[in-house]
Formats: sequence, structure tokens, C-alpha cells
Amino acid sequence: MIFRLVTITLLLIGCTEHPASTTCGQTGSLYRQALYPIGVALDMMELNSSAAYQAIATEQFNSITPENIFKAESIHPVRGFYNWLETDSLMSYCERTQKRVHGHTLIWHVQLPEWIRSFHGTKADWELLMKEHIQTIMTRYKGRIAGWDVVNEAFNEDGTLRNSIWRQHLGDSYIEKAYRFAREADPNALLFYNDYNLEVSPTKRAAVIKYFNNVRLRGVKIDGIGLQMHISIVHPGSSEIASALMDVSANEYKVHISELDISVNPLGKNITATTELLGEQANLMGAILLHYRQLPTKHQYGITFWGVSDRNSWIRSTYNRIDYPLLFDDNYQPKPMYCKAIELL
Ligand code: XIL
Repeated sequence: MIFRLVTITLLLIGCTEHPASTTCGQTGSLYRQALYPIGVALDMMELNSSAAYQAIATEQFNSITPENIFKAESIHPVRGFYNWLETDSLMSYCERTQKRVHGHTLIWHVQLPEWIRSFHGTKADWELLMKEHIQTIMTRYKGRIAGWDVVNEAFNEDGTLRNSIWRQHLGDSYIEKAYRFAREADPNALLFYNDYNLEVSPTKRAAVIKYFNNVRLRGVKIDGIGLQMHISIVHPGSSEIASALMDVSANEYKVHISELDISVNPLGKNITATTELLGEQANLMGAILLHYRQLPTKHQYGITFWGVSDRNSWIRSTYNRIDYPLLFDDNYQPKPMYCKAIELL
């Protein structure tokens, strides 16, 4: 009896620490199976300190989006000074391992250094600041970065332009100018616009597409749109995702699913990763892959996951909730979502 109790207790403890249901036991290489690039957002600290993290990054993905180090606060922390240490190191990892690099992100209203937030100057000064920022970074890595999120999250949910610091000082045309400066710096790089909720809000998506169609009419080449897809098993559904992907592609933009994670706990409840939740997550993953496959090859820029494993996901720290949104679990073991991807890619 005592023996049985101990066994049951041990089993229960074992279950909480390493729930058997979170892993799927499958091995393979996502990118080697895929017909388009499979990407991941990487964090330099993890890449340099965790062998397991680095092994998965190298084995599973062939496109890398630096998660933070190209953002203004990190790469341009002080006026006139650029911190190339981490970006150079990431570039050399990617070149050594033959990974495509996706630059993220040049013009955003978040993660700005204090000197930009408090910058005083005329419209012309602000334009020069923006131009210099974009062109200094792009010129350094010219020909080595395949695509750039030139502008990030410039639209509100209702389709109007966000009144970001850039818009306040430069007016609505700051977006178009950013793309002109970027094109000048590296004519061969693919230029993307990147935003969230484009898959859930047809209004926001229509506004973005209309805006960039007009920019194109004025002679600026925009190559693609990044749908971040920070989604959950509850919302959006498979058909909404399909419409969004087709809509962007029908307007002749490359489609980058640029920051994919699938929350299993959007309401922040006290949960564990059950077989059922992870199964739902895997099924949605499968639906995304099937829909993405329907796009014309020339529009399949790739699918990028926003982190390697659940322990690296920004969701937990940013939204302060337990969640399991990525392909690998806290112990870097493949989850059902990974197995689904291996099965369907
Ligand atoms: C997030 C990073 O993952 C976090 O590490 C950081 O603290 C905040 O930014 N949309 C974007 C990404 O375009 O750059 C954000 O990344 C997530 C939301």
C-alpha cells in the first residue's frame, strides 16, 4: 500500500515536471523538408549560452530573424553610435551555418532609445535622423540581409495610421519615405511591412494593403507583408487565416508569417500543457501549413516562429502568464505541434 502511494506520488511529481503529453518523440529537420524557408527568432544570449538552443536553431531552421538586436534601442543606443557587436556576431553565425537573415526592424515606435524619444528638431532634422538610421544599418549589411521589416506596426486596429513618434514629427508620408531610403541603401533587399492582427482584422489588413498599393503607384517597390500571427488556439480560425494569406498574395505581396506563436492560454488561466490543448495547437499549426502551401511559390517568403522553445517565448514575460506557444517544450523536446509540422511540410 505504502509502496503504491509512493509510486503514485512519484508519478504525479514526474507528470508535473515532465508531462509525457508535451513531447511527441519525432525527430527530423523542418527546413530540410520544407519547400520554402522555415525561420526562427533568435536571442543572442541564448544562442551563445545554450548548446541545446543552438543545436535546434541550426538543425531545424534556415531563416533567422534577430529577436531584438536590430531594434533601435539596441543597435543605435546613443546618437552617432552604433552597437555592431551583437549584430556582427549574429551575421557570422548565420553565414557560417548558411542561414538567410531577415532584418527586424528599422522603424518602429517601440524599443526606441531615450535619445530618439527626446530628440528635438525640425521636420528636416527628423527626416535626416530616420534616413541616417535606416541607411547606416542597411549599408553595413548590404547584400547579406535578404529582407527587412522596414516599418513595423504603423497601423491602428481601425485602419488609421498610428500616431507614433515618427508620424508626429514627419507626418503620414514617413512610411513611404522610410521605404525610399531603404531602397536607396540596398536595392536588392526585399522590403516588407510587418504588423499584428492582420489575420484577424480584415479592416486593418485592407487599410495596410490599400496604403502600400498607393505607395507602389508612386513608384516605390514594396516586396512583401509580414503577418506576425501571434495567435491562439481560440482565435482566429483556420478559414480567417486562409483568407488573410490569400488576400495579401492576391495583391502581389510576398507573404511572411513573420512571428508565429500559438497561445494555448490566451485568457491567462492557471493551466498545464495537456494533451488536449497541445493537440488543438498542433491542429491549427497543420491548418496554417496547408493554407500556406496553397500560395504561389513566388509569394512564399517563409514561416518564422517567434522563438525556439516555450521557455524562450516573449509571451510569458510580456503578458505575465503561463503559456506554451512554440514548437519545443521547456526542455527543448519537440511538441505535437512540431510533429504536425514534420508530417505536413
Ligand atoms: C518582442 C521580443 O520578443 C521581446 O523579447 C521584447 O522584449 C519585446 O519585443 N512584435 C514585434 C516583435 O514586432 O519585435 C516583438 O518582439 C513582439 C511583437
